[in-house]
Amino acid sequence: MSIISKDIAKAVQLLNDEHIVAIPTETVYGLAGNIYSEKAITSIFETKKRPFFNPLIVHISSIEQLPNIVAHIPQKAQLLAEAFWPGPITLVLKKQNTIPDLITGGKDTVAVRVPNHPTTLELLKQLDFPLAAPSANPFSSISPTTAAHVETYFKDDIKMVLDGGPCTNGIESTIIGFENDDPIIYRLGSTALEDIEAVVGKIEIKNTVKGETKDIPNAPGMLARHYAPSTKTILSNNILEAIERYPSKRIGVLVFKTEIEDDNLKTQIVLSKTGDLAEAASKLYDSLLQLDQHQLDIIIAERFPDSGLGKSINDRLQRATVDA
Ligand code: TXA
Ligand code: MG
Repeated sequence: MSIISKDIAKAVQLLNDEHIVAIPTETVYGLAGNIYSEKAITSIFETKKRPFFNPLIVHISSIEQLPNIVAHIPQKAQLLAEAFWPGPITLVLKKQNTIPDLITGGKDTVAVRVPNHPTTLELLKQLDFPLAAPSANPFSSISPTTAAHVETYFKDDIKMVLDGGPCTNGIESTIIGFENDDPIIYRLGSTALEDIEAVVGKIEIKNTVKGETKDIPNAPGMLARHYAPSTKTILSNNILEAIERYPSKRIGVLVFKTEIEDDNLKTQIVLSKTGDLAEAASKLYDSLLQLDQHQLDIIIAERFPDSGLGKSINDRLQRATVDA
């Protein structure tokens, strides 16, 4: 029997009983549990096979709850929350003493956001506690953007996926930490850098890039290899040239807007024929998962323009293609 259901009351019951439930958000599906239940939170880590030092994001239903979670709200954090919540921005702030160490990996900061999804906002309103939720994928594999993706990963491990349809944004939230009350980007994501800078001014990025994992103690989850298909995947500025380097291989390509004319390709996915970065982002993970089903020797992904959401998409493609 399918574990996918639209029954919010059933999700409420399971979560009250300290079980974990996969929930929809505008970015990706999350694997959720009561932040105060040691049983539920332990189960999240075990189900994902995620190391305990890698902290979880706390999901709340409105900005009014923020003071219950964090001990100090810098002015620019308040501005960002007001500008973007509900929405795909996560703020990392000094935690309240009541937030369990299990959530924060022992850190004195906590990551928090208000997700912009009607089903999950309704769910949160019916619960007496916030939900901790990492993306609902096994550690380091591609994040799920449909209820069916989650079911494929975890049908034997969890009781329910709350179905909220395909995620509209399709890549994870942008994570912003604070150092001396100044915002710093810890993870590029679904809110474009330019939109954030329009609210708080020029902002530094301390994101990982290839091979530099050890330089980023800030967001422990930002491993160089992440979001990775099991098929070897490379990122290229010049798709035609890259294809020529692999004669007699079974090649699949993932391109932004322009179809590649080449009879030797086994398959190709065009992310947005109109060149719309938001559409491309929303289809990115599903497309990688689809390409991974084709028994290819190699997936060649096209590098995106390095602005707006293109920057966030490139970040994910880079992590999907690191040799490790
Ligand atoms: O869009 C999203 O953010 C999704 C949905 C479900 O909300 N969630 C998500 O969670 O992407 P996860 O666990 O896959 O990624 C959370 C990231 C990890 O890289 C983690 O290391 C970082 O947030 N993080 C969490 N708490 C932190 C903290 N206190 N300090 C620094 N980084 C933190
Ligand atoms: Mg994740």
